[in-house]
Amino acid sequence: MATLFKNIKELIQVRKEPIAFVSGKDMNILPTIKNAFLVVEDGLIADFGTMDTCPNNDFIEVIDATGKMVLPTWCDSHTHMVYAGNRENEFVDKINGLTYQEIANKGGGILNSAKLLQETSEDDLYQQSKIRLEEVIALGTGAIEIKSGYGLTVESELKMLRVIKRLKENYSIPIKATFLGAHAVPNEYKNNKDGYLDLLINDMLPLVAKEHLADYIDVFCEEGYFSVKDTERILEAGKTYGLQPKIHVNQFTSIGGVQAGVKHHALSVDHLEEMSKYDMESLQNTKTMPVGLPGCSFFLGIPFTPARQLIDAGLPFALATDYNPGSSPSGNMNFVVSTACIKMNLTPEEAINAATINGAYAMGLQDKVGSITKDKRANLILTKPINSHGCIPYSFGNHKIEAVFINGEKKLEY
Ligand code: NIG
Ligand code: FE
Repeated sequence: MATLFKNIKELIQVRKEPIAFVSGKDMNILPTIKNAFLVVEDGLIADFGTMDTCPNNDFIEVIDATGKMVLPTWCDSHTHMVYAGNRENEFVDKINGLTYQEIANKGGGILNSAKLLQETSEDDLYQQSKIRLEEVIALGTGAIEIKSGYGLTVESELKMLRVIKRLKENYSIPIKATFLGAHAVPNEYKNNKDGYLDLLINDMLPLVAKEHLADYIDVFCEEGYFSVKDTERILEAGKTYGLQPKIHVNQFTSIGGVQAGVKHHALSVDHLEEMSKYDMESLQNTKTMPVGLPGCSFFLGIPFTPARQLIDAGLPFALATDYNPGSSPSGNMNFVVSTACIKMNLTPEEAINAATINGAYAMGLQDKVGSITKDKRANLILTKPINSHGCIPYSFGNHKIEAVFINGEKKLEY
């Protein structure tokens, strides 16, 4: 039951020996094989090499990729793509000059999305979310993380996580779920944040754990949201249920979130638009992946994560979309990869590493996806005919995808 891709102009992100992630100067190395073949069997990558060693067995299907390239699908390690409705009304406020914080202060923002989600049935939420998931798979995403955090009540946080569970069951790409009960303080707890933390820790967390609804725990550690002290309290509680942190830090201010993440062995610290020298140093020699979200910087007009400095300091770096209704209403990883090159000065090689193998690591999927390695899932992008792989980020606002394969099965052809 094998499929052969033959005459591949360039097979990209080939890692014969499995690796966890790449850092520093190694990020600029993107191993490829020119004039390559690739065999898929039982949904997995079974073999690959140069065309002169191409097997001539009886294949069930042979795909001639002359002039085209093959790469692993994008790994989007940070999204909030389960949400109700959208916030296009706030878009105009933003155009008129209001900041993200000003919009939140006048009743918009996360609490606005939470109100809508609380009023939306689980089934309706699933139907709205599955459309987004299918859309991003068609854009080349082959593994994704999705957060809760627009529920903010016991019932609605569970509703969100159950929708993510249903997506996991019904779609064949790997999906990781993150519990983000600490996304914003609900209005009822405006003057009693500790009361909300008690609810989160004593009521939400045990139920989330009992139903095995989350793989990770997240906190929006930011002025006006959750302090470092709050963050540490939540991460401690999550740890008792075996939930590793992946946290929102340094989006608007550098208040010690990076250090809290490192201290609690976070798998990733995400956003990092505001980075002090101390923050950069704190990430050295850790297993915590810094994750940048250029779609958010682009949409909100806030600084881009200093990814160039992070990589030049020898650190690893991953890219994700942050797909959400408030700060990044797009789940298009092709745009994220382009923007990383254009606005963060990453090379195409660095950006592709950041969006594949490093993204896989940032959601604990480095053994399954993120590179062309035997026995990894055959989640693949087949490009249109292109001259070089630099054409992928160069074509911003567009994409060079001809077809997307998930477990070796063609999901879509442009
Ligand atoms: O990652 N910063 C916190 N959470 C989201 C935005 C959520 C929203 O505005 O709805 C983010 O940017
Ligand atoms: Fe986010």
